[in-house]
Amino acid sequence: MLTLHSKVAGLHFEPPLILASGILGQTSSSMFISLKGGFGGIVTKSTGLEPREGHQNPTMLELDTGLINAMGLPNQGVDIFKEELKELFQMVDDVPIIGSIFASDEEQFAQLAASMEESGVHAIELNLSCPHAKGYGAALGNDPEMAGTIVLNVSESVNLPVLAKLPPADNIAEIALAVQGAGADGIVAVNTLKAMAIDVETRKPFLGNKVGGYSGPGIKPVGLRCVYETYSEVDIPIIGCGGINTGRDALEYVLAGASALEIGSAIYYRGKKAPSKISNEMMEIMAQEGIDTLEELIGVAHD
Ligand code: FUM
Repeated sequence: MLTLHSKVAGLHFEPPLILASGILGQTSSSMFISLKGGFGGIVTKSTGLEPREGHQNPTMLELDTGLINAMGLPNQGVDIFKEELKELFQMVDDVPIIGSIFASDEEQFAQLAASMEESGVHAIELNLSCPHAKGYGAALGNDPEMAGTIVLNVSESVNLPVLAKLPPADNIAEIALAVQGAGADGIVAVNTLKAMAIDVETRKPFLGNKVGGYSGPGIKPVGLRCVYETYSEVDIPIIGCGGINTGRDALEYVLAGASALEIGSAIYYRGKKAPSKISNEMMEIMAQEGIDTLEELIGVAHD
């Protein structure tokens, strides 16, 4: 019988569609609503040690082939965010909740991860990939050695699975090998692509921060390439992310090597029920192809 589930880093996802960080992951109610839309797991909005306002408006723009945003990692700080998680855990207890964190060095990452662990999250996702926040995210994750150092410090400070969310770098497989060697339990590939838009009338960059992160359908070929190249090199599971809008997109990622998928922009395009729609489309295609489990398809494009 056809079932849509997957195990990643010891966590069971059913369906293996997870709310990506940054979309509806900031409050207990928005996370709860996302689960009702059909997600099998949640990654919270990235949290830092201290409150942070983020970048100036405008912070988001719709393009023909996706979205570009530069929120700038706005958040309430981990202590206040833990109260949101407390409320969420009163409403749900059967779905993996993954705490996303960002920091500027390995010590802060380790401190933050330990604090997040106290909230009861089931795993930590390290934001090593935000493309537009100076000194954070991709500024660290593009360097394999730094990415490995952060993973090592975090792995030693928590008793939770540690997932490294990587940037869409040319050398993503090298970074993935470094984080695997440092103890990562899984890789999330990929975050948004560093990009910009210019307003022709004002003749100025559109976003307050000038550059932002490009997501949505236009980046799927890049995300797929990253998952494919990473799968060839590492043994730990990969969660695919980037431009997954339909069940067919999701299965492409699985064939490239993903064991589960993170979904963000599809909520913008297909509404709150996007994950249910994507699950149904995946199962329809799997049924047509005579496939019973996702496992049968993981990485098959490499054979
Ligand atoms: O602007 C933001 O908060 C984005 C974060 C990210 O891309 O990781």
